[in-house]
Amino acid sequence: MSTKHRDRSIWEMDRDHFIHPYTDFSVFAEEGSQVIRQASGVTVTDDKGRDYLDTIAGLWCVNIGHGREEMADAIREQVLQMQYDNPFGHSTNEPAALLSAKLSELAPGSLNHVFYSTGGSTANDMAVRLAHFYFAQRGMPNKKKILSRVDGYHGSTYFAANLTGIHGTKIGFNRIAEDMIHHLSAANLYRAPEGLDESAYCDFLIEELEHRIEQLGADNIAAFIAEPVMGAGGVLVAPVDYHRRMKDVCAANDILFIADEVVTGFGRLGEWFVSDRLYDYEPDILVSAKGISSGYIPLGATLVSDRIYEEIARPQVEGGSLSMGFTYSGHAVACAAALKNIEIMEREDICGHVRENGPTLLRELEVLRDLPIVGDVRGSHYMVGIELVSNKQRKLGFDAVVGSAQRVFKRCLNRGVIVRPVGNVIVLSPPLVFQAEHCRQVATTLYDSISETAAELRVAGLVNGD
Ligand SMILES: Cc1ncc(COP(=O)(O)O)c(C=O)c1O
Repeated sequence: MSTKHRDRSIWEMDRDHFIHPYTDFSVFAEEGSQVIRQASGVTVTDDKGRDYLDTIAGLWCVNIGHGREEMADAIREQVLQMQYDNPFGHSTNEPAALLSAKLSELAPGSLNHVFYSTGGSTANDMAVRLAHFYFAQRGMPNKKKILSRVDGYHGSTYFAANLTGIHGTKIGFNRIAEDMIHHLSAANLYRAPEGLDESAYCDFLIEELEHRIEQLGADNIAAFIAEPVMGAGGVLVAPVDYHRRMKDVCAANDILFIADEVVTGFGRLGEWFVSDRLYDYEPDILVSAKGISSGYIPLGATLVSDRIYEEIARPQVEGGSLSMGFTYSGHAVACAAALKNIEIMEREDICGHVRENGPTLLRELEVLRDLPIVGDVRGSHYMVGIELVSNKQRKLGFDAVVGSAQRVFKRCLNRGVIVRPVGNVIVLSPPLVFQAEHCRQVATTLYDSISETAAELRVAGLVNGD
């Protein structure tokens, strides 16, 4: 430690030097961070030795649970054997080759080819670059626009942040070239227009896509990107048949469908990937990250279909190459970690465990609907959103300054449970090894914490209509 930092605590050094993502620094300057020192299974422990139940798997990513010795061994062994090779051109490493073959086995249909990056944002960026290149190769350089959705979250690189449709993330940042990215409505059943049942709402959303294509011209649109279940936008499960019908419209207009399975993939909904298994469509491009290595090491993967591969694999000019890539594309250590992660998931049948226990989590949480500020409890398997409202009948949200979910988060933390506040929604996305007793614990903790928050907000005159 340099003399400059001697005698300063971890907490101070972090507060003064680490620019944390998505953080309100006016509060941070006072409160700083909670230092997490240890983690095992579904529990994390802070620097004061206090244990917490992790109901968010870090950040939707620690799917096999924390602190697996086998993961440490796999990473160590790969570092000692061969930690890095140059992926550009014709050099490769064994874990990258093995992982690519394995992913093509697990992925839907003809998604047999993988481009690696270091996370979900970069993997989404690569999806768009590949879509653009694909159409350029077919002699259609004008097919560039991307359709995304309001409240979709696709990451934080410049392009992925622009794909993202969450309003609060835009303030103060510039937009990428005007007219490049267009946002359609979120598929939000809780806030569907008055008088539309699920099937009519689905028709409404499909028609919106058709109109937008008509307006922009199919010849100008490269791709539509969507999460199978919207995550950071509030855990929104789309109407039955929505994704399949959206895919059909895209296919009819020669528009690629990019499934952002960064959160939904790798067992969170009880399947390796859900596009085909739960929603009955085959994307042209599938994006994976997070659970692919269970957060033990950064990795992103963009899978493309045979049809796309055939086009992008042709040189664009004589001697030309696919001019995109990262120093860490197909990093040997990251790929070795992903392979071990998959081996553990297969051996322990973690997808089967989630299929069995996912309904338990939602069932346990149903009781929250009785509380005066809970408007909706929704989700699928180990991906849940609890939406807080100031007025149930009118589904009115709390103003952002109220920090409704943040208040619940703090109370849960005091009770030894970490949940995730996102606007007015409390998000749960536990490690997939979560057991029935953990589901009960989080339901009880939330019930008590939301009840107290409701009482506090009522006294402040912020709850009405009940
Ligand atoms: C659906 C989705 N896509 C992309 C990303 C971005 O991934 P990363 O933070 O690894 O870049 C996230 C992150 O939460 C996500 O939820």
